Amino acid sequence: MRLRLFVLLADIDLTSITDRMEVKRAVQAGNVQEAIEKLNDLNPTILDTNPQLYFHMQQQKLIELIRVGKINEALQFAQEELAPRGEENQVFLEEIEKTVALLVFEDVKNCPYGELLDVSHRLKTASEVNAAILISQNHEKDAKLPSLLKMLIWTQDQLNEKAVYPQINNLSTTVLEDPAV
Ligand SMILES: *[C@@H]1O[C@H](CO)[C@@H](O)[C@H](O)[C@H]1NC(C)=O
Repeated sequence: MRLRLFVLLADIDLTSITDRMEVKRAVQAGNVQEAIEKLNDLNPTILDTNPQLYFHMQQQKLIELIRVGKINEALQFAQEELAPRGEENQVFLEEIEKTVALLVFEDVKNCPYGELLDVSHRLKTASEVNAAILISQNHEKDAKLPSLLKMLIWTQDQLNEKAVYPQINNLSTTVLEDPAV
């Protein structure tokens, strides 16, 4: 019974860690669209409820398009996806302007916003998305706890009819107590 409970908890942790790592790695590798899709598969509410995170992902996608020289695609993406977000938020607008400025400078290294192209900017976006996934997964885990505890109580009740064994009687301490002899 304890083994079953443990396996359940371990299973939750393992898949959530690998999913989170995949999204983070995709951003680190510059595959922002892939990261957005994986993130939405994982939990679509994360981007819906974090406008700032969603904006930073889109901005990172624009940076990557500029980095690989897809200028037309970058301009189209900036116009269609990012410009509307700048209308609703002054900080976003300034960030969009800085990013689009990368297109104007022939020598990007001397552009005042050249640091947007640094690997450190990717890492910053990756850690922001990582933190958001962690928060959402902790909420999920908290939501699962009551049903896991109910299962623990139910399983102990079933076992009590058949066996004498150390069990958890107090859910706030979860100390395993030896049976009364
Ligand atoms: C469980 O343990 C806590 C902490 O020691 C204690 O305050 C509480 O009264 C206990 N509950 C029961 C039902 O024994």
